[in-house]
Amino acid sequence: MCGIIGYIGKRQAYPILLEGLQRLEYRGYDSAGIATVDDAHGTTTITTHKDKGRVDVLKQYSSVGTMGIGHTRWATHGVPSTVNAHPHLDCSSSIVVTHNGIIENFRELKENLSGHHFRSQTDSEVIAHLIEQHYKGDLHHAVMHIIPMLKGTYGLCVLHKNKRELVVARNGSPIVLGIGSGEQFVASDAAALLPHTKQVIYLDDFETGVVAENGMKIFNKNNQLVTKEIKTVAWDVEMGQKHGYKHFMIKEIHEQAQVVRDSLSIAVDIPLLNQTAEPKVKKLFIVACGTAAYAGLIGKYVIEQVARVPVEFDIASEFRYKNPIIEKGDILLAISQSGETADTLAAVSLAKQKGASTIGIVNVMDSTIARIVDYVIYTRAGPEIGVASTKAFMSQLIVLYKIAEQLSGTALGLEQLPLLVEEVLKKDAAIREIAKKYALVYNFIFIGRNLSYPLALEGALKMKEISYIHAEGYAAGEMKHGPIALVTDDVPCVAIAPRDSVYDKMVSNIEEIRARRGKVIAIASEGDHAIQKYCEDVIFIPRINDVLTPFLAIVPLQLLAYHIADLRNCDIDKPRNLAKSVTVE
Ligand code: F6R
Repeated sequence: MCGIIGYIGKRQAYPILLEGLQRLEYRGYDSAGIATVDDAHGTTTITTHKDKGRVDVLKQYSSVGTMGIGHTRWATHGVPSTVNAHPHLDCSSSIVVTHNGIIENFRELKENLSGHHFRSQTDSEVIAHLIEQHYKGDLHHAVMHIIPMLKGTYGLCVLHKNKRELVVARNGSPIVLGIGSGEQFVASDAAALLPHTKQVIYLDDFETGVVAENGMKIFNKNNQLVTKEIKTVAWDVEMGQKHGYKHFMIKEIHEQAQVVRDSLSIAVDIPLLNQTAEPKVKKLFIVACGTAAYAGLIGKYVIEQVARVPVEFDIASEFRYKNPIIEKGDILLAISQSGETADTLAAVSLAKQKGASTIGIVNVMDSTIARIVDYVIYTRAGPEIGVASTKAFMSQLIVLYKIAEQLSGTALGLEQLPLLVEEVLKKDAAIREIAKKYALVYNFIFIGRNLSYPLALEGALKMKEISYIHAEGYAAGEMKHGPIALVTDDVPCVAIAPRDSVYDKMVSNIEEIRARRGKVIAIASEGDHAIQKYCEDVIFIPRINDVLTPFLAIVPLQLLAYHIADLRNCDIDKPRNLAKSVTVE
């Protein structure tokens, strides 16, 4: 959450920082700001432009200077407003700070700082004043001095108008340093640096750094210089473009056949899951958040059904506080597109503390989760920019199915999927026509059974997050235990009803909804003309063995949500109140 960018070099910083913030905007977009240091005329001054709203609000400004920092915010403390936008200055306007994370003890720190003038309601501003209080000519030294006072999480990028350097620090919020020639960069995400460099250094927790034009120094928490590995980012700048699509989300939905193709080549042969040697895997734990969690729930069903290995599934935010029974010998699978989700990360740390082994299914290379797990499997979704996750989900499913294959020693026929996913994607225009009938409703219900139950949850999540239509996902069998009370002729119900082992049960549930004048949109198997009799609309998907249906049924759910949101003129790639990477609890 929140995006940080920093530049020091010979070029004008403002346009570089602005472009970087546009790339980071998916991390938060309620306000934005840039500070640059102008030292061209003998005196040095910091110029700050900040505003409420999207990063584009900064286009109306410019400033001079070859060093600066920028920030795009997802508000935690203090409403989105110009004063609460970062960067934050100290009293003398000499020090300027951008911060990701939450300083939990900021009130106490503020009370103990006498004589300082605070301008904002944020937790972050206190950092600028603390540094001011302890600055004696060495900015890194002052940052090192105040860090032990901070309780909470931080990714920090700080500058002083009289120092030709950026000082960075990390604890719980990512900081990446980009290496250029005669210029250096700081970001909270390597993807933001791609137009400039693919050579990066990832800061670890409790490390700090001093970034100067011609190089950088990294220090551990004892202030000792450390040598860090330079990594090459695998993605290209090209991959983060819209390529003529109206939104990243629809582009990413259409990339899914290729994502499945690419994901098929992921080698999943995890030593920890080797069932031909002792000890065999007795139980797995799966944790994740949001869409990644729904992929995990499908993974649980498939691993249990195919490999007969019990799987405990938890939403990461619940897992970490429920005092889970997990111990040495257990294996925890954490799923995360960003690899930075705070709750998933905390669940991994907890599992490690309790002696369990950990496996990460992660999309972003070298992200925090990827680096702390015992074994990482990278998904091959490429950069996912739309805030609503689509192609990452598809790639996560492939990995989970491959794990089921490894555990069971049975092939699941995944290689047939790319062509079939392509077939479903051809229904895009037809699904838009259906979407037109429902674009103005206020509520939606999604139902499914067995593997289609997590899909109902995911379909409802997609609908609510991008179209703002209230949507609930239920296990179809649960309807008569309460939710059916919601059914009226203006609450459409999406029923995921492929010709699988629970098809007849689903048809009964559909009939019960119809009997209460509910309108049903069915996702059904090609050739199932009978279902058309009970449903207002049917979206057909190719017939396939039961276990593989989620790969095909998810696509109409994504497209339906997308088109309804588009018809409602919603800001699909940046839905209100959301951020792609949830790095705070
Ligand atoms: C929904 C969505 C979120 C994420 C969740 C986990 O479309 O994108 O629910 O799936 O925040 O994020 P990652 O996968 O980055 O851990």
